[in-house]
Amino acid sequence: MPPEASTRIAPSILAADFGRLGDEIRAVDAGGADWIHVDVMDGAFVPSISFGTPAVAAARAATRLPLDVHLMIEPVEPHLDAFVAAGADAITVHVEAVADPAATLRRIRELGVRAGLTLRPGTPESSLWPHLDALDIVLVMSVEPGAGGQAFIPEMLDRIASLAARIEAQSSEIDLVVDGGINADVAPRVAEAGGQVLVAGTSVFGHPDGPASGVRALRRALG
Ligand code: DX5
Ligand code: ZN
Repeated sequence: MPPEASTRIAPSILAADFGRLGDEIRAVDAGGADWIHVDVMDGAFVPSISFGTPAVAAARAATRLPLDVHLMIEPVEPHLDAFVAAGADAITVHVEAVADPAATLRRIRELGVRAGLTLRPGTPESSLWPHLDALDIVLVMSVEPGAGGQAFIPEMLDRIASLAARIEAQSSEIDLVVDGGINADVAPRVAEAGGQVLVAGTSVFGHPDGPASGVRALRRALG
């Protein structure tokens, strides 16, 4: 099976119409989405504020799809229990925002959810290497964290391929997630480079024919 055929799609609700959040989530679910990506921003680790555990709880009430929570916050540890209680199935934290990544990843797993680590485009990839045997998700940011609607950074294709090879070499059951600026044009190249789960906000929820069509357009692009 070609890699693209098994590529999963995770719409980011940051780009959803919050006046109809439940309907928007049900639409991408009906359109064939695999996960729901929830972008939590605190206005400190990243300049903007998005939403917190109420948005996770609302998503949990709207779908049975896995909720993939991306914490762009600092500190992280005081909030983990609340995000799990709200319904998170996976929590991905920034390596730049935690003093002891190994301890934080351990705590997330102790809470019974999947543990992920991510990094800004400018942070060396090597910052993740020591932790690969302690996590379930590696998230490659292909935009600067903090906003949707940005352009994909093509230099991240090399990082995706490099991490995919490293993960393969240690035959880990890690999901390699790519997040930021992904649309029907970029998606095949990201999958070809090794991206297994593609996060897309604007290209899905901003699709002219609606979110379900946005998911289907990405799926068609992946072949
Ligand atoms: C950016 C977020 C991304 C972003 C994706 O900080 O982590 O998940 O919302 O949205 P688009 O697809 O619009 O770049
Ligand atoms: Zn994200």
